[in-house]
Amino acid sequence: MTFIIPPDAERVVEIRKLWTVFRSPDGDQVVHRDLDLTIVRGEVLSLVGGSGTGKTVLLRQILGLEHPTKGEVTVLGHAPARLSAMGAANVGMLFQHGALFSAFSVLDNIAFPLRELKLLPDDLIRDAALVKLQMVGLSPQQATKSPSDLSGGMIKRVALARALIMDPPLLLLDEPTAGLDPESADGFCDLLRGLHRELGLTVVMITHDLDTLFDLSSRIAVLADQKVIVSGTTRDVIAYPHPFIHEYFLGGRGQRAMEALHEGAASRPVPLSER
Ligand SMILES: Nc1ncnc2c1ncn2[C@@H]1O[C@H](COP(=O)(O)OP(=O)(O)OP(=O)(O)O)[C@@H](O)[C@H]1O
Ligand SMILES: [Mg+2]
Repeated sequence: MTFIIPPDAERVVEIRKLWTVFRSPDGDQVVHRDLDLTIVRGEVLSLVGGSGTGKTVLLRQILGLEHPTKGEVTVLGHAPARLSAMGAANVGMLFQHGALFSAFSVLDNIAFPLRELKLLPDDLIRDAALVKLQMVGLSPQQATKSPSDLSGGMIKRVALARALIMDPPLLLLDEPTAGLDPESADGFCDLLRGLHRELGLTVVMITHDLDTLFDLSSRIAVLADQKVIVSGTTRDVIAYPHPFIHEYFLGGRGQRAMEALHEGAASRPVPLSER
């Protein structure tokens, strides 16, 4: 699919003809084959696809933790590796499995990327971490707790505060609501929506959860057959004939979520048109 990007849109991420190949003694595994994707400032782009289709690997490419076998990934005009020294200042990532340091307090987890830089005095770092703690809806009393004392929803919030510690313009979310009960998931979606608006973030999100997908996305991109086969509004995506799309959106689970969708963000037109 080719996008017509509005001339005034800033391209935050550009992925061109990306190949990701993992080599093993049993043979090569091609995860991405000629994958193209452009992400523009301000959008919430949701990636959906079957398990093992390379969604997390794609976020890791954007983060610079994986490198293209062929093709090109640029973030804010540079290869992610060139951003690496100050990586957390440009791209924040909420990892699929929370990934807090269990031996650190909540505050030390949030402060970690800033401490690693060794540029600021400790009292400033603590204050910055406290600001982020409150930004994600947690009280200062939580600062000294250990991750094992937190609920699943609170762990996600702490991980989000850590991802945002350096005010990155680009936020990557890998299954942000997975494992949360419906109420916590709704609360976390509200938080993400508010932060996206207030901080003017560009967000790339992976989710299997249709409620989260419809709640937050301004565009949906479908990963199948090693590439982005289609992207656009919910309507655009559903109209694309592919067995995964049919099963995902039009199977029983999809139908229920679609019925619950009245004014979902993804059903509204986005400022991108598609050929
Ligand atoms: N570092 C690696 N070395 C070798 N293979 C890898 C590596 N990372 C991922 N893979 C493989 O690449 C494929 C895509 O993995 P990925 O984690 O991106 O899937 P996913 O789409 O995020 O799936 P899920 O929805 O289950 O999280 C999988 O087959 C995985 O085993
Ligand atoms: Mg994954």
